Amino acid sequence: MGFSLWLLALLGVSVVASFIRRRVKYQKGLKNLKDKVVVITGCSEGIGVSLVQQYFAQGAKVVMAARRENLLQTVKDGLPGSGQGRVLAVRCDQAVETDCKNLIDAAIAQFGRIDALVLNACRSMNDRWVELPDPPVLCKQVFDVNFYGALYLTKYALPHLTQSKGSIVSIVSLAGKQATIRVSFYAASKAALISFYDALRLELNEATAGVSITTCVLPLVATRTALEVANPRIRWSAMTPEGAAREIQRAHVTRSREVVLSATGKVIATLRPFCPALMETVFGLAMCDDLAVGIRKALLGH
Ligand SMILES: NC(=O)c1ccc[n+]([C@@H]2O[C@H](COP(=O)([O-])OP(=O)(O)OC[C@H]3O[C@@H](n4cnc5c(N)ncnc54)[C@H](OP(=O)(O)O)[C@@H]3O)[C@@H](O)[C@H]2O)c1
Repeated sequence: MGFSLWLLALLGVSVVASFIRRRVKYQKGLKNLKDKVVVITGCSEGIGVSLVQQYFAQGAKVVMAARRENLLQTVKDGLPGSGQGRVLAVRCDQAVETDCKNLIDAAIAQFGRIDALVLNACRSMNDRWVELPDPPVLCKQVFDVNFYGALYLTKYALPHLTQSKGSIVSIVSLAGKQATIRVSFYAASKAALISFYDALRLELNEATAGVSITTCVLPLVATRTALEVANPRIRWSAMTPEGAAREIQRAHVTRSREVVLSATGKVIATLRPFCPALMETVFGLAMCDDLAVGIRKALLGH
């Protein structure tokens, strides 16, 4: 068979496979979010606020968490009827295991069940290794929140999620697939989350626990903290927090395995395994403060 016939056959197989996957996803997906109890972290600002608004609008009972209680209260007050008894705000520093236990206990005490755990909170960074006096100190702080925080919450929520045949939604960054400068520990923590939840998904499937795990890989999203550190050259590509929250919710409801948001994100995630050096250069250039210096280094190596 000629090369073009092979290509055509491959295309046909992937179209059929994708059709079957969509059908299966549709059948195992949630019908709707009405009265589902959803615990969402990182709700005091950014994407978490949009997630709260959208889950609430779909009829879910929302348990929202973060450290800044005053901001959580503002988010709650901004909901129709100030949450109509369907919203609980809980202070939680997710780097602290007892706080994570308290959050899950509070959700159970208020609503009696948990249907979903949306892991959105994060500790970001904007530092080069050489600029830091003691790099492992910052690394530990980032992992304590992003990785261990997610682990603690999973530990306490999983028995309830197993009962409800619920879902875990892990929100990560494209940096977890294609790392770049100034976010080394953040990227490493997100890569660790991708691997950990891939493994847990397999283990839970094996044990037929009925809990779905969805990893949402986000590109740049126009939140205050992200725009503060994003290179102006790439700001044009930012998604809105509302758009990101909508796609996260869709991936959750369809119980997708992994979704990469935005066309740019999809292109980067798809090309990365095939041409890592090219992707590193493109990413490096996008983040480079001085584009001319970056291009010279990429082309001439100095
Ligand atoms: N925005 C982007 O460009 C982008 C890109 C890729 C991926 N993402 C991912 O999307 C998610 C949300 O990003 P975002 O831009 O909306 O973040 P953000 O605006 O910086 O908000 C971070 C949230 O996490 C909470 N948080 C931070 N440290 C915490 C801790 N120790 N314990 C509990 N909560 C803590 C913060 O609340 P308190 O400070 O009140 O605790 C805040 O509500 C993150 O997982 C991020 O990695 C974002």
